[in-house]
Amino acid sequence: MRVLVTGARGKVGRAAVAELLAAGHEVLGTDLGTPTYERGEPGAARYVRADLTDAGAAFGLVRGMDAVLHCAAIPEPTQDVAHTVFGNNLLAMFNVVEACVRWGTGRLVNLSSETVPGMAFAERPFEPSYFPIDEDHPVRPQDPYALAKHFGEQLCDAAVRRSELRCITIRPTWVQDRSSYARNLGPMIALARAGTPEPTVNGWSYIDAYDLAIALRLSVESELPGHEVMYVCSPDAAGVSDTRAALYAQYGDRVEYREFARPDASGTSAAKAERLLGWRPSRGWRDYLDETGQ
Ligand SMILES: NC(=O)c1ccc[n+]([C@@H]2O[C@H](COP(=O)([O-])OP(=O)(O)OC[C@H]3O[C@@H](n4cnc5c(N)ncnc54)[C@H](O)[C@@H]3O)[C@@H](O)[C@H]2O)c1
Repeated sequence: MRVLVTGARGKVGRAAVAELLAAGHEVLGTDLGTPTYERGEPGAARYVRADLTDAGAAFGLVRGMDAVLHCAAIPEPTQDVAHTVFGNNLLAMFNVVEACVRWGTGRLVNLSSETVPGMAFAERPFEPSYFPIDEDHPVRPQDPYALAKHFGEQLCDAAVRRSELRCITIRPTWVQDRSSYARNLGPMIALARAGTPEPTVNGWSYIDAYDLAIALRLSVESELPGHEVMYVCSPDAAGVSDTRAALYAQYGDRVEYREFARPDASGTSAAKAERLLGWRPSRGWRDYLDETGQ
């Protein structure tokens, strides 16, 4: 398939481009970064610099594609001003969806976020309603990042209502690649192992970038109709060995506890992605770190 990957130079985009190329797809990557004006590396994806908040850029790039994997976004709301996060992410998403609808693209894979229900960046206290969190969890976002992602999912709903476009929205939990495991999860694992887990809103969930890339490639290739929203996370929690007990220590009876797939299960469930995509994650933090998080 001819696949456009937006945000191709980001953490998720890089892993996804490699996975798509390895599976034999023809990939065009796009991002804000400066191109290298030299002969392309053998086997590398073609690259075009573009700002997707520009509708013309989005239309120019989406034309002729069989599928679009939309990773481009500011990936959290605390290091840019609010209107930049909201405006950039939602307008880029709108332009990509609009271009897919108008050019008759077959498949859009939308990178949304686990934050859509309201966790992580809420200004006023937010507590999940139940664990493991899944796609049925009520949606109560407060911050500009989660709101733009929530509206982006609604743009996909509207697109499948008005065209033949098929959409899959993936909500990853915290994405970790080779370079970020120690920095991001190391302290979390150390605290959990010391018996004082860091307070959590997602049940210490994370996702390995290379397992995520497989879920994204399966989404690109999928024949699923309509618009499906799916969480994608690694099966285990970062550091805790008894997730239910650790969650109970933090939340007590204020939340509902449902069935966990294993004692150290992630507090978020990827069961829907496993069922609908046939995705089977195979990596975890222990492939990168020792039991103390080093
Ligand atoms: N990193 C995470 O933990 C995480 C978790 C859940 C969801 N996500 C989502 O996954 C996607 C990828 O995240 P990431 O971690 O790779 O982030 P990243 O910042 O590493 O990569 C995002 C890329 O998008 C590009 N981009 C931003 N605005 C753009 C625009 N207007 N036009 C063109 N390119 C633009 C950036 O230049 C960057 O290279 C994002 O949609 C993010 O919201 C990330």
